[in-house]
Amino acid sequence: MTGKIIGTGSYLPELVWNNHKLTEWLDTNDEWIRERTGIGQRHISKDLGAGKMALEAAKKAMEDAGKAGLRAEDLDAIFVCTVTPDIMVPSIACEIQKTLGAVNAFAYDINAACSGFVFAYNMAVAYMETGLIKNALIVGSEQLSSMMDWNDRGSCILFGDGAGALVVTACEQKGASVMHSDGASGEALQCVTGGKLSMDGQKVFRFALKRVPEVVEELLAKMEMEKDQVDLFLLHQANMRIIEAVIKRLGLEPEKVPSNIERMGNTSSASLPILLDELNREGKLRTGMKLVMAGFGAGLTWGAGFIMV
Ligand code: UT7
Repeated sequence: MTGKIIGTGSYLPELVWNNHKLTEWLDTNDEWIRERTGIGQRHISKDLGAGKMALEAAKKAMEDAGKAGLRAEDLDAIFVCTVTPDIMVPSIACEIQKTLGAVNAFAYDINAACSGFVFAYNMAVAYMETGLIKNALIVGSEQLSSMMDWNDRGSCILFGDGAGALVVTACEQKGASVMHSDGASGEALQCVTGGKLSMDGQKVFRFALKRVPEVVEELLAKMEMEKDQVDLFLLHQANMRIIEAVIKRLGLEPEKVPSNIERMGNTSSASLPILLDELNREGKLRTGMKLVMAGFGAGLTWGAGFIMV
């Protein structure tokens, strides 16, 4: 059993900061940022926190799922992934459940940093396999600008704000999930509540280059599937150099690995659902397509999941 996409949505704050904007106070430049990261701009939310952005993305995903006949009452579970919750209790997921009127869904938030969306999706599939749920709404929402040290040019240039949401339903196609954590290396990327993020960029870079290809191979082996049977590989949008290196190591066709990091920066747990929503709206997701998603980030955490269109 695995999940099948029946709706996508996203919310991106109107305010956009390009790389030139950052040079107003930071000793950096557009060329360096583009060359080292592939990022040209990022959305910044001044007014909406992760909760409101999550709700906006969720509403759009439900509108999209409505075209397939799914109503809020049909949802069995709502999961919100975030490392920047603006409300702790009740959870953002419960707030969404209330606003949507998803009276039959249980709801909670999870934090697995940039792996959050893949972890939440894999968790939804595990619930589907037990028969506990059939339909789930999964949202990734981040106001990362609120945890940036805007004077740390080694980290603040990377991140952006936004939310993405996905409605999935159980389908009989064979699936597989892979998830890993290495808490002992957690100091590579950390932030205490209310504090500012600190990162050892090179350590995270090396970790991603090793673990992302590994986890994709592990998933495909579990699925007994060859790479050429996968229609799209969706990688967490952290750095274009990481994406390109993974493409090379795995010998993937670059056109099968879409990216929007140039326009979004790294939106942590929101990066994959924002990318999925873009692909959906551009008509690039066609029924029957097989997608592999891979996430990695703070924890350290990394994982991969399989999803059908
Ligand atoms: O979701 C996971 C989130 N985290 C990541 O994905 C982070 C992965 N790591 C990276 O993306 C890269 O390590 C960075 C983009 C953060 C940094 O790139 P790098 O190639 O590893 O640069 P570096 O830290 O080795 O720094 C090289 C030089 C240094 O100068 P010196 O010591 O050689 O004179 C830095 O001070 O570049 C300097 N530098 C900058 N220069 C201009 C660092 N940041 C900047 C900057 N603008 N923004």
